[in-house]
Amino acid sequence: MARRKKIYEGKAKTMYEGPEPGTLVQYFKDDATAFNAEKKDVIEGKGVLNNRLSEFFMQGLTQIGVPNHFIKRLNMREQLIRAVEIIPLEVIVRNYAAGTLAKRLGLEEGTVLPRPIVEFSYKNDDLGDPLVTEEYIIAFGWASQQDLDDIIALALRVNDFLSGVMYGVGIKLVDFKIEVGRHYEGDFQRLIVADEISPDSCRLWDIETGQKLDKDVFRRDLGSLADAYTEVANRLGVLPQNSPQPGKPQLIN
Ligand code: TYD
Repeated sequence: MARRKKIYEGKAKTMYEGPEPGTLVQYFKDDATAFNAEKKDVIEGKGVLNNRLSEFFMQGLTQIGVPNHFIKRLNMREQLIRAVEIIPLEVIVRNYAAGTLAKRLGLEEGTVLPRPIVEFSYKNDDLGDPLVTEEYIIAFGWASQQDLDDIIALALRVNDFLSGVMYGVGIKLVDFKIEVGRHYEGDFQRLIVADEISPDSCRLWDIETGQKLDKDVFRRDLGSLADAYTEVANRLGVLPQNSPQPGKPQLIN
């Protein structure tokens, strides 16, 4: 059997050549990193949970007409996706102050923002993903003004969708990050949501208790990351079969 070709290996995922041109296989690893990979660990089961959660969110986006890279899940850790040319930006949407925004402006974490704020970081690990303005993005040719208008519209639709889904299960969507890619269909290209949507790239707080259910649990040593992600998956009803469910009797066979 021929060995499949690895296209790219990132911190949390690996991409392999897909079965047909224009497709890729995205493999979710258990590796967790924070602070630009200064903090690292392996969290058993994280890849399986993020594969399921990203599938769930991307399928929901498809259902409401938000174009994205997801085609189908292949197994516990892999999904088939559309190959895109990634725009080198981390597109961040914030509903409440947290993380770098709270620090930059001296705001208390959890302060409600006057409206959702979209911001951009340049995807470059060596530089620590610096915040960039729309002027930079256009001047350096990473995206055009039209692209930016489309990216902001996409990001805000994802925000409305994710906020609603999370609110329905008692979770506040504080902020999140998406990546956007150019997808070519013949002579046409369109911008679609790519990468992943999972608790690795969101801030999720329990509405009642404020408990953090996202990667801050790892960044700030607040307990078990796998338990936090399992809680999110459980509430959304997307827990993979056969994985441990906290508080439920386990079938041993
Ligand atoms: P932000 O507060 O800017 O940075 P940090 O997480 O380092 O405090 O992040 C805002 C949201 O975007 C948060 O949910 C994490 C996510 N994010 C990523 O997933 N990857 C990134 O490279 C960046 C810059 C943010």
